[in-house]
Amino acid sequence: MAGRADVKLLFEPRSVAIFGASPDREKIGFKILDNIVSGGFKGKIYPINPKGGEVLGLKIFKSLDEVEGAVDMAVIAIPAKFVFDAVRACARKGVKHVPIITSGFSETGNGEEECQIVHFAREHGMRVLGPNIFGIFSAASSFNATFGPKDVTTGGVAIITQSGALGIAMIGKSAVENVGLSCVVSVGNKADIDEADLLDYIADDKETKIVLMYIEGVHDGEKLITALSKFTKKKPVVVIKSGRSKRGAMAAASHTGSLAGSDAIFDAVMRQCGAMRAETLKDAFNWCKFISYSATPKGENAVIVTNGGGIGVMATDACEKHGIRLYDDQQILKNAFGAVTPEFGSTRNPIDLTGQATPAFYDDALQAGIAGKAIDSVIGLYCETAVFDPEELRRMIADAYRKYSKAGKPVVFSIVGGQKVETCIRSLSKDGIPIFPEVYEAVSCLGAAYAHRKRVSEDEEPMAEAEIDVKAIEKVVARARAEGRFFLLSNEAQEIMRAAGISLPQSRVAKSLEDAVAYAKKIGYPVVMKVVSKDIIHKSDVGGVALDLDNEAEVVDAYQAIMHNCKSHNPAAVIEGIQVDEMVKEGTEIIVGARRDQGFGPVVMCGLGGIYVEVMKDVAFRAFPLSRKEAMSMIKEIKTYQLLLGARGEERKDIEGVIETLIKLGTIIRKCGDISDIEVNPVMVYESGKGVKAVDVRILLSKQEAV
Ligand code: ACO
Repeated sequence: MAGRADVKLLFEPRSVAIFGASPDREKIGFKILDNIVSGGFKGKIYPINPKGGEVLGLKIFKSLDEVEGAVDMAVIAIPAKFVFDAVRACARKGVKHVPIITSGFSETGNGEEECQIVHFAREHGMRVLGPNIFGIFSAASSFNATFGPKDVTTGGVAIITQSGALGIAMIGKSAVENVGLSCVVSVGNKADIDEADLLDYIADDKETKIVLMYIEGVHDGEKLITALSKFTKKKPVVVIKSGRSKRGAMAAASHTGSLAGSDAIFDAVMRQCGAMRAETLKDAFNWCKFISYSATPKGENAVIVTNGGGIGVMATDACEKHGIRLYDDQQILKNAFGAVTPEFGSTRNPIDLTGQATPAFYDDALQAGIAGKAIDSVIGLYCETAVFDPEELRRMIADAYRKYSKAGKPVVFSIVGGQKVETCIRSLSKDGIPIFPEVYEAVSCLGAAYAHRKRVSEDEEPMAEAEIDVKAIEKVVARARAEGRFFLLSNEAQEIMRAAGISLPQSRVAKSLEDAVAYAKKIGYPVVMKVVSKDIIHKSDVGGVALDLDNEAEVVDAYQAIMHNCKSHNPAAVIEGIQVDEMVKEGTEIIVGARRDQGFGPVVMCGLGGIYVEVMKDVAFRAFPLSRKEAMSMIKEIKTYQLLLGARGEERKDIEGVIETLIKLGTIIRKCGDISDIEVNPVMVYESGKGVKAVDVRILLSKQEAV
């Protein structure tokens, strides 16, 4: 990952050249130059164009070689076919950063040239931003090297965006919404610099209070996870991701894959990293604006002040959804709000001032919210009434906001009513006061602030990894590879489980009927028998499995039946033997899996197991490695978690055993690059302390051998 020093000059260049700077006002090269000049950039500016001449009072250099003195950055806005030559000129000049505006690279199938350019640039100590970008704006150096809007409102929000058009639109929207920006970086094709590289600089940028990231795809997910996890301990990140596509999921070969879907994994990983995912641009902007303007809550206790019961209940529901704790020490609430609440109102939180509340009631109640030491944040609600002078509404809210800001306590408002109320919202909102027509919007802003507070206060937990016998695993994989297989036979999969220390039912592979009988006796009845053949994948479908065999006679019959069924299904099938397994005791069935995700690398999964796993889709994901605490939070996320706690008077199940299994599977995927998917379904979970058993294990190998 790039260090701060590595990208500092991208945000704070001392000099910039613009390839394609043109006197033609319609050209992108002109617009970028114009924005740099009129944005007030204090460094040196060198327009480059083989035609020479002058633009905006600046001399145009016919080539970069003509420029005297150092050039930190060169923005390239010339047709694709000339870009590589320009990058070569940058290398000669010792340029450090090359934002390439030009389109026509990997996004149109020209990935090869893009790769060559980046490779060349890196070899010559340069970093490439883009290609296919609209540029970079950095308030730290009054540097607007974009072809977006000229006037950018500065403030506390940093935007990193993969979509150019949306990025430009977001600059415009931020001005309308009065959201100030500290920087805007268009990352485009992310051929070199990506979000993770930029976060290191932004983390220390004094102006930036929050980051808004628009992501379409993730290239190096493991790098992003590391950068985000560190960043969000310091500053909040709001992520919008498009492309909730099912295509990736459909292409996946295992349950773990098909249950995952690219979006489910993205969602889980963002939460794991402490980033807040917004569904809509509206939410994203609301959260950014609120956090950049408001104080951070110092404690968990929130209070709702309202003049309407209904709207108070709506806010209560929204608080629950967003994890906001409503303060409920009744005595303290009564002491704080009793004097300002009518007798037929309520101090039970929501503090209901009732429909007769006048501005004076609100003034007093909101003042009590500031004075109350145990109160950390306030949600102010108002429904239009005839007793409340609407002219006073604006004054009352603006006053309260000012006082709360001074006291360092967050407050958010939602007011509902007719034209006057709407006008009031627009005008207060323009002044940066957090006020919304929808209760949900107001509460979700406070929820975002609390989510960040929680993230910052979380202790760092050590990552868990298991001791596994990698050599033994590689041996099994090598055998399958030698036979050109991309899957392991069930006895091979069991060997892998043993090498990772995962408990299995007793099992032996019988090469003859006599062996089968002897093994069954040794294991103890009842037993299960399964064919072992690389030519038969779906064993049950062809009559290759027999369950619940209680005695020798049944073992003999089953052996013969399996042989017969498999031979008649596929006469050419090579049958390595018949596996005789202990018939496992009943327990709570769960599914545990691990796989290598294209974007994020190793991920683990667990959920309700058994045959309905695909229908119920009650599964949770995390990137691996993870802490034991995170593994626990993942298990708690499953809707059927209650079953593991012991439903209907049953004892608590061995949840620690499930966590160990998750960690072991994740470790296999992490350490053995040849294995792409592992799925254990069911894992039988017994009572606490009695362990778990991996009953059915499927393992797939990567299509490419690990190096
Ligand atoms: N060095 C310096 N200047 C050069 C060079 C060179 N090697 N070669 C050509 N130029 C000059 C040209 O002389 C011209 O100047 P002029 O106006 O004085 O004649 C100028 O560079 C521009 O060259 P044109 O051939 O006119 O190219 P044009 O400006 O039409 O297009 C551009 C260049 C904008 C880079 C185009 O190729 C492109 O990629 N457009 C898409 C950009 C884009 O959308 N990026 C993603 C943004 S995000 C979003 O979607 C909003």
